[in-house]
Amino acid sequence: MDFFDAIKARRSIRKFTDAEVPNAVMQKAFDAAVLAPNSSNVQTWNFIWCKSLDVKNKLIMACLSQSAARTAKELVVVTADPALWRRSQPYLVDYVKSVSAPKQVIMYYEKLIPISYRWGFLNVMAPLKWLIANGVGLFRPMPRGPNTRGDLQEVAMKSAALACENFVLAISAQGFDTCMMEGFDECRVKNLLKLNSSERVVMVIGIGKAADSGTWGPQFRIPKKLVTKEM
Ligand SMILES: Cc1cc2nc3c(=O)[nH]c(=O)nc-3n(C[C@H](O)[C@H](O)[C@H](O)COP(=O)(O)O)c2cc1C
Repeated sequence: MDFFDAIKARRSIRKFTDAEVPNAVMQKAFDAAVLAPNSSNVQTWNFIWCKSLDVKNKLIMACLSQSAARTAKELVVVTADPALWRRSQPYLVDYVKSVSAPKQVIMYYEKLIPISYRWGFLNVMAPLKWLIANGVGLFRPMPRGPNTRGDLQEVAMKSAALACENFVLAISAQGFDTCMMEGFDECRVKNLLKLNSSERVVMVIGIGKAADSGTWGPQFRIPKKLVTKEM
């Protein structure tokens, strides 16, 4: 499917049929998801395909039993956790050393990432980071964060949301349908999937084949001129 056709074909589906989603379709979508651009390439995301009937049923309940979750053939939970920098950092250091990356990039992954991705107990490192960023920022352009755990979770969630979009478009390009959901009880989802305390649930994605009554109507957006600006 053409790129723009896949974008147009994607709709948020609230009712799926009983049609199975082939494993190959799911795998291709996971492959596309992990190719999403992400902050510092630290890949602080997880894609949890909930296959067990028990987990699925509990997840549907945590998604407030909404029809998009209830009728979905497959459910994937996408999470973001800034603490996962520890998982990718050794790979990234090896990688940047193996290619012709500038010395500063190697330094960045070896020294700066471990500092900037730590927040300390009760955000103890945040005030110091804030002072440095805003002090230097008085004299030259300077990123003013992330400083707190919340800031770092926001960074991780931004990247994970991009991966979600890659995922749903890849499903759409293969002739299947999705619904992204943030209507869920995050505490229950976290307990169910035994997530880390710093891990946030970004979205639950329902996947399947759209039923004829899968959408409420044609796709609707407010006029483009209201949301696109030039300065
Ligand atoms: C972050 C996010 C959360 C959403 N949460 C839900 C949800 O919990 N339940 C639902 O039915 N749709 C949900 N949607 C779908 C939106 O309602 C939908 O994208 C919007 O109405 C536009 O429709 P379209 O996707 O068919 O173009 C969500 C979409 C996004 C991007």
